[in-house]
Amino acid sequence: MDKLNNKPVIIIGGAGHGCIIEACIKDNRKRYNDFEWDIAGFCNDYDQYVDGYPVLGKLSDIPSLIDNGYYFAWGIHLIGRNLKTASIFESLNIPDERWATIIHRSAFIDDSVVLEPGTFVMYNAYIAPRTHIGKCTMIKANTNIGHDVNIGAISHIAMGATIVSCVDIGYCSDVAVSSTILANNKIGDYAMLGASSLATHDIPDYEIHVGTPAKFLKRMRED
Ligand SMILES: CC(C)(COP(=O)(O)OP(=O)(O)OC[C@H]1O[C@@H](n2cnc3c(N)ncnc32)[C@H](O)[C@@H]1OP(=O)(O)O)[C@@H](O)C(=O)NCCC(=O)NCCS
Repeated sequence: MDKLNNKPVIIIGGAGHGCIIEACIKDNRKRYNDFEWDIAGFCNDYDQYVDGYPVLGKLSDIPSLIDNGYYFAWGIHLIGRNLKTASIFESLNIPDERWATIIHRSAFIDDSVVLEPGTFVMYNAYIAPRTHIGKCTMIKANTNIGHDVNIGAISHIAMGATIVSCVDIGYCSDVAVSSTILANNKIGDYAMLGASSLATHDIPDYEIHVGTPAKFLKRMRED
């Protein structure tokens, strides 16, 4: 069955991750004739416009935006404030069927991969067999994700990261730009592997590790 086109989506967030989602939708429409998503606007507590699109409401307006039939893309991920990010997400209560799963047409995603509702996959991402991506997780450009990887909900895999096979990543965690996780390792909940770092071991919940090989830097902020 053909998918429906021009479903109106509101991007939750602003000029950071939100605009990357905007760029993906626009490029899919312009270069790939993929008209599944149509940007209605943004939703955040600060702006009136983002990139010329109207901000259609604050986060507290989401229940009425749900009633008005919109879909939503999750575009908030405060680097280093993962607990705050999660508390914002959990306060929204958007039903699964209203999360927009947005995939750039240049991405390679094996047929056996499971993408939970609201996943965002950007340009040139590679996702190998039997991998599972949790709800509203963002997979940014030029990432490589091996087979049998499990990534929890609302995590963030930044540009150029490589995750080798059989890795587990928890809830609301980060794999920062150009970093690599070797096979069979585990990144906990609210945990982070820093930029250009190499994880050769597990990273426990709430810990930030950096360097090559990565070592403990500090605990995640809890506010
Ligand atoms: C992990 C991270 C948040 C640490 O940043 P920070 O909290 O500002 O850390 P600081 O700059 O205070 O650095 C503290 C120390 O750790 C070192 N350090 C910080 N990040 C490092 C990294 N990625 N690799 C190696 N060392 C690092 C610093 O050199 C400094 O060392 P010093 O005390 O000897 O001078 C940051 O490195 C990072 O990865 N940011 C995310 C980038 C990203 O992917 N953004 C998403 C884009 S979409």
